[in-house]
Amino acid sequence: MSALKSVSIITQDEKMLDLINRINKVADSDVSILLIGETGVGKEIFTDYIHHLSNRGHFPLVKIGLATLPPELMESELFGFEKGSFTNADRSKKGMFELADTGSLFLDDIDDTPLNVQAKLLRAIEAKEIRHIGDTKAIPIDVRLICASKLEISDLIDRRLFRQDLYYRINVVELRIPTLRERKGDIPLLVDHLLKRFARDKKLKISQEVMDIFMNYDWPGNVRELRNVMQRSSLFANHTIEIEDLPDRFRNINYVDNIIKSCSICFDSGQMSYNELLNCIESKLLNDAISNSNGNQSNAAQNLGLKLSTFRDKVKKLKLS
Ligand SMILES: Nc1ncnc2c1ncn2[C@@H]1O[C@H](COP(=O)(O)OP(=O)(O)OP(=O)(O)O)[C@@H](O)[C@H]1O
Ligand SMILES: [Mg+2]
Repeated sequence: MSALKSVSIITQDEKMLDLINRINKVADSDVSILLIGETGVGKEIFTDYIHHLSNRGHFPLVKIGLATLPPELMESELFGFEKGSFTNADRSKKGMFELADTGSLFLDDIDDTPLNVQAKLLRAIEAKEIRHIGDTKAIPIDVRLICASKLEISDLIDRRLFRQDLYYRINVVELRIPTLRERKGDIPLLVDHLLKRFARDKKLKISQEVMDIFMNYDWPGNVRELRNVMQRSSLFANHTIEIEDLPDRFRNINYVDNIIKSCSICFDSGQMSYNELLNCIESKLLNDAISNSNGNQSNAAQNLGLKLSTFRDKVKKLKLS
């Protein structure tokens, strides 16, 4: 796990640790960083990490989400305006570039920036100065840029939706954050972290069945989706998060299907013989039954529809505790 001040990036994945390593090397310079990744992978948490690690960490980190701003407001938000420069401009206002002066400016969803605003962004970055709307006076700015995109900018350049010259300016260092399904080893670690966060005053666990489902799920919303599912299910669960505490999309997943899928990953990669595959499936079924009945073997056997003696033979054969 990597932790810095208040920013904790929970991971044990090699690709992520490599990314953090690269960030540690460049954070202190002023180079522009472009973070690319699907929704919820952690682009914003990485931005916080970079900023706090840099020598600008004690200065402002100003964030602006370009996808949520109507195009006509983007310019005034970014560059500020003078009183009377347009209807309703009854006072002058600083823009985000000025507010971020001496610190960092996070341009989120840079892929959603219209071409006319891209041209103005490029000018500001190249000249290191901005002008308020309605004024000709140049205001020098000293900001470190961190941009985030959910799409490959090179694809947008091919489609003439993004300026190549701006791309060169914002991606001096380009970092790709892997999706959660590409680093499933992080799921148990994140679950542990989130259990502590959402347990409040109760002691909260998660059942093996739920963990199996999580390990087999694709997580299109990445870490944010996992966080939301954990937050929601921790409200419903008593001491252990069970399948019935999960949202419908998880409950409808067939439990046995999941066990077979999780074992077949090892089988498909050639790490297991046929007999080992069968043992793996059986061990998971028995282990889940035991942990779901709090170690009571009679109940576990009953839940699996097995005679207690058959159940015990299997536990012994598979050396389960
Ligand atoms: N490695 C991680 N460790 C701990 N928390 C994480 C990690 N990655 C993401 N999170 C948490 O998951 C949530 C989503 O992360 P974040 O907002 O950084 O994603 P994003 O890539 O900016 O998503 P979007 O593209 O939708 O804006 C946040 O609550 C964040 O704190
Ligand atoms: Mg974000």
